[in-house]
Amino acid sequence: MDRYRPGYHFTAPRGWLNDPNGLIQWQGRYHMFYQHNPHEARWGHIHWGHAASDDLVHWVDLPIALAPEPGAPRDDGCWSGCAVNDHGVPTVVYTEVRGGVQLPCVATGSADLLTWHKHPRNPVITAPPAGVQVTGFRDHCVWREGENWCQIIGSGIVNQGGACFLYRGRNLLEWEYLGPLCAGSVYDGDEMWECPDLFALGDRHILVLSPIPLGRAVYLAGRYEAHRFLPEARGDIDGCRDFYAPQSFVDERGRRLMVGWLREARDDSAQLAAGWSGAMSLPRLIVPRDDGRVGMEPAPDVAVLRGPRYARAALDVPPAAWFILDDLHSDMLEIAASLDPGAAERAGIAVRASPDRQEATVIAYEREAGRLVIDRRCAGSGASDSPTIALPLAPGETLDLRIFVDRSIIEVFANGYVCLSARVYPVRDDSDGVALFAEGGTARLLSFEAWRMPDVMQRL
Ligand code: FRU
Repeated sequence: MDRYRPGYHFTAPRGWLNDPNGLIQWQGRYHMFYQHNPHEARWGHIHWGHAASDDLVHWVDLPIALAPEPGAPRDDGCWSGCAVNDHGVPTVVYTEVRGGVQLPCVATGSADLLTWHKHPRNPVITAPPAGVQVTGFRDHCVWREGENWCQIIGSGIVNQGGACFLYRGRNLLEWEYLGPLCAGSVYDGDEMWECPDLFALGDRHILVLSPIPLGRAVYLAGRYEAHRFLPEARGDIDGCRDFYAPQSFVDERGRRLMVGWLREARDDSAQLAAGWSGAMSLPRLIVPRDDGRVGMEPAPDVAVLRGPRYARAALDVPPAAWFILDDLHSDMLEIAASLDPGAAERAGIAVRASPDRQEATVIAYEREAGRLVIDRRCAGSGASDSPTIALPLAPGETLDLRIFVDRSIIEVFANGYVCLSARVYPVRDDSDGVALFAEGGTARLLSFEAWRMPDVMQRL
């Protein structure tokens, strides 16, 4: 078995996986579709893979839902989209690519969501808005507004920036163009907004985007009024490019949950040799916060995975050698820790660490810069850059971390609103340790718990 293959994050049974698509809870069961090449572990010939779960944690892979037309050239396929309940009929709105042209399409599912039929009237929108030179026209977010459906399609305007186009339909087949929901400017540096996702959160709306060439997921917070979205602030969904193209949905309990694609950070040749590529993030719970930030936490459902518990009493972490947690060894863990950086300039937790500290992935808080870092310089054989995200701790505020380690996946949630995910590929067999460290002053560990996590992914 490939030592980098995650055990509790979803991966396709074989081949390539990218964006999550069509997230929906249908008659109690969670369904997740995904961009998938079943033939090999590289992007191309894109299908919609399908998985289902009763608890958001244990997933069963199901037969492929959508496939490119037989004989279609390699670059064609069924690209990203979403799922809705159309008066009792499970329906997906997605992009088909024919001869390089991106076309909005619809498919309907059987009651068990196992069989899908592309609608004979596809494509349901035949061209991008007239008179606009677009950089792309794909990816869909569909919602109900009174009697009507509304959808936005990801795009960009040549020499201007990213854009989302808004459409309205009395049904999912006939759409009227209402205008741009929102468009960026040259100053943002975006050429195209992939995978737009618009939803209400508290008293505002959030527009999640995956801009090209930025390559990581961001959000705009603002007002959605009179069919326009007026951004007031921009923030990060995740600080790292290894988390991309997220999609969210509301489950039957009314919770807004988000899943993103954790792309690989190792060579194409290593992915091909492994025979699989790409994983899904853990489901994130999205909540409004009083301070105006978008709250993001691991869905509480993930706690069912917790195995044997390990705990440490509070202790000072002086700026000396790493404090290695001798009896905690695993490449699959959840860690919940609270740390007061105190006088330390840099403090945090190393995971996937070898006993001699030569190999390790270091999760560090840098006080001066007010940011969180996943330091991958000595993490192993994959990417060695170190993604960062702003985390300005107020005086006296503690660093509250939830860290998920799943072989090649590191997902960090901090203080209820900051997320940083990274892929790592340690090469040493003994890189399964955990250590605490501080530099430039003493930090204080206030609490530390960890749980071993099981391998729950179904394998063929
Ligand atoms: C984002 C994306 C989407 C597109 C899909 C193709 O990763 O490029 O814009 O629909 O992937 O697989």
